[in-house]
Amino acid sequence: MVKICCIGAGYVGGPTMAVIALNREAMPGKNLFFSTNVEKHVSEADIIFVSVNTPTKTRGLGAGKAADLTYWESAARMIADVSKSDKIVVEKSTVPVKTAEAIEKILTHNSKGINYQILSNPEFLAEGTAIEDLFSPDRVLIGGRETPDGQRAIKALKDVYAHWVPEDRIICTNLWSAELSKLAANAFLAQRISSVNAMSALCEATGADVSQVSHAIGKDTRIGPKFLNSSVGFGGSCFQKDILNLVYICECNGLTEVANYWKQVIKVNDYQKSRFVNRVVSSMFNTVSGKKIAILGFAFKKDTGDTRETPAIDVCNGLLGDKAWLSIYDPQVTEDQIQRDLAMKKFDWDHPVHLQPMSPTSVKQVTVVWDAYEATKNAHGLCILTEWDEFKSLDFQRIFDNMQKPAFVFDGRNVVNADKLREIGFIVYSIGKPL
Ligand code: NAD
Ligand code: UGA
Repeated sequence: MVKICCIGAGYVGGPTMAVIALNREAMPGKNLFFSTNVEKHVSEADIIFVSVNTPTKTRGLGAGKAADLTYWESAARMIADVSKSDKIVVEKSTVPVKTAEAIEKILTHNSKGINYQILSNPEFLAEGTAIEDLFSPDRVLIGGRETPDGQRAIKALKDVYAHWVPEDRIICTNLWSAELSKLAANAFLAQRISSVNAMSALCEATGADVSQVSHAIGKDTRIGPKFLNSSVGFGGSCFQKDILNLVYICECNGLTEVANYWKQVIKVNDYQKSRFVNRVVSSMFNTVSGKKIAILGFAFKKDTGDTRETPAIDVCNGLLGDKAWLSIYDPQVTEDQIQRDLAMKKFDWDHPVHLQPMSPTSVKQVTVVWDAYEATKNAHGLCILTEWDEFKSLDFQRIFDNMQKPAFVFDGRNVVNADKLREIGFIVYSIGKPL
């Protein structure tokens, strides 16, 4: 029986270990434990997953782009310090290509004759669907050294997944392909959203409807229908971070054109967020100063309370910059989190030690409420920034009756029925759709 230990029990480590534990053959009793005695469990384990956070560096060389591997490095040093037997160390975190080489150096330096095999096993789960994604992944990717020891390690990890993942979905590659495939997958996914969002700007300018365009192009089996929803912009802890990381690696390898190509995905995303703010301000007679704007949804997507890199932060800050008063409602995000997010500098969200005190302006201009009706009461406009299902079934007549007139709706996720809202009397702006 192999013993598995995971360092880092966040969004990835926690659910991944739970699903592995559930899929082991019948065990006498409990087989999933959470512990802070990391040294003990590392020294006893055969396979050690490392799924610590790998945020963007905020200081020094590569600041604003390169991955900060501080947490990874300290985990590797700890493994080297406490291990007394051979180990398979699995990179579960998303890391720059060639990280395994650095980790190998840390582990084998002072190795006391211990054999370490490093594997890259990036995670492709998405938040809100983590357990489903882990139960039936499109694929599991395992990269390792092309030596007999490396291949044995790959086999050992493959056996863990083979308890519930069909063998043809387990892809084995060399280390660098596995590391790079993770960055590439996120870059391709984000690029799809920036592509459809770029089209949405053209749709607004020409009278085309982005939903119809997405539907039409998605029918081409080479393009496919998924991930073509135009939005106020993509968010989440990984897309931007991983593309910046990719850009940095390209630049370090002298590949300026390639770096610029991928940088553009982020630029279009930033453009989409600022375009949204400009549309709100310009349609509300060029000023939102002193006007109450309701913000419905703050999480970076539905079914999660996660606000890391949510487009709502940039949109809210843009509106606050124009002196709007915001009343924010999200079914899963706390007031404390929202106030903190709006007071934070870029990238600080994943560096808790750098947290700044709250700025008094944002506290005064922002209220957080626990109900969409409360948020919209007496508001001049409302912005939908997360596609929560409950927003589709709100009583918009009631909302309209309690808002200032003219009452504006800016649907950043295309979730409401714009025609019905117009019948009620709202002025409705949807992303990438004719007025
Ligand atoms: P997270 O911040 O939720 O979890 C990381 C955890 O590691 C934190 O709880 C932190 O306290 C802990 N940690 C850091 N150093 C530690 C140490 N030395 N010992 C013990 N614990 C330590 O991050 P996450 O969202 O789970 O992401 C982890 C990695 O997985 C990142 O590289 C990310 O890019 C990648 N990833 C994330 C997702 C996602 O949906 N969130 C999906 C795929 C890949
Ligand atoms: C994403 C990837 O989908 C996962 O495969 C990957 O493992 C993960 O990043 C990671 O590496 O962290 P996640 O960020 O949880 O997962 O969520 P997504 O569903 O990909 O959504 C990301 C952002 O894109 C959200 O803000 C979402 O609203 C936006 N989005 C998504 C769109 O604007 N349009 C779409 O069509 C799809």
